[in-house]
Amino acid sequence: MRVVHTQTELIEALKILTHIAFVPTMGNLHEGHLKLIEEALKKTKHVVVSIFINPLQFNSKDDFINYPRTLDEDLLMLQKLDVPLVFAPSKEDILEPSQTIEIQLPDIANDLCGKFRPGHFNGVATIVCKLFNLIQPELAFFGKKDFQQLFLIKELVNQLSYPIHIIGIDTVRDKDGLAKSSRNNLLSEENRKKASQLFKLMHEMKDKAMQKTSSFKEIEEDAVSLLNASGWRVDYLTIRSAQSLKTPVFNENQMVILGAATLGSVRLIDNIEFCIQD
Ligand code: PAF
Repeated sequence: MRVVHTQTELIEALKILTHIAFVPTMGNLHEGHLKLIEEALKKTKHVVVSIFINPLQFNSKDDFINYPRTLDEDLLMLQKLDVPLVFAPSKEDILEPSQTIEIQLPDIANDLCGKFRPGHFNGVATIVCKLFNLIQPELAFFGKKDFQQLFLIKELVNQLSYPIHIIGIDTVRDKDGLAKSSRNNLLSEENRKKASQLFKLMHEMKDKAMQKTSSFKEIEEDAVSLLNASGWRVDYLTIRSAQSLKTPVFNENQMVILGAATLGSVRLIDNIEFCIQD
C-alpha cells in the first residue's frame, strides 16, 4: 500500500493506476467505510482512498477541532484490505494558499442538514470536485447514510458532466439499528444506549406512512414531539420524495424519511427509504 501526502506525489502514484474506483473519507474509519472500500474492491483492484478532514464543511470550529483523528489506525485497516493507494493530504497542500472558489449547489443544499449547517454542502462539493479532478476516477463510492450528500454529489456529477459513476452503498448498522458513524464514539455510555431510538422511530414513521391512517405532517409532528420529549434536540424528522428530496407530490411512490437530532452534544443523522406501494 502506498500512502501519499501531496498532490505532486499523488499525480506520480496515479500513473500506474487505470479505471480507478475512489472512496473519499474523513478518516476515523469504521465498518461503514470498510463496506464502501470492499464494494469498490469488488469492482477493481485500482482503489484510491482519500483521508482528509475538510475544514470547508464544518460550520463550528469546535466540531472541526473535536473531529476524531486516527490516521495510524486508519492506515492499518486500509493495509489489511490491500488498498493500493491512499491520499492523505495536509490542509496546506490541498487548500492553501487560499481556496476562494467554492462550488454553489442547488437550493435543496440549503434545506434539511443544509438549513442547520449553512454552507456545509458547498464545502463538501468543493473538496469532492478537487479530489475528482486530481484522481479522475471512473467510479466513486458514497454511503447512503449521508443521503442528502449522496443526492447532491449525483446532481453535481450530472450538472458538471463529470464522467464518473456514483455508487451509493447501504448504511451499516450496529445490532440495535444505530447507523455506524464516526460520531458514535463521542456518545456517553448512557446516550449510546438511547441512540437507536432515532432509527426505531423512523421505522414507526414508515409503518404509519404506509398504513395511510395519518397525514405525513401528523406523523412528522408526533415523531418530533416524542424524540424531543425523550431528551433529544431534533433538527428535522421528515418524509420526503427520494427523487427530489422535496415534499412529496400527489401519487409519488419512492419516499425517504430523513432525520437529524442531537443527543448530549452529538448530532446524529439517519434515513430510511421506502415505497408507498410495492
Ligand atoms: O462523507 C464524508 O466523509 C465527507 O463529506 C467527504 C465526502 C469525504 C468529503 O469531505
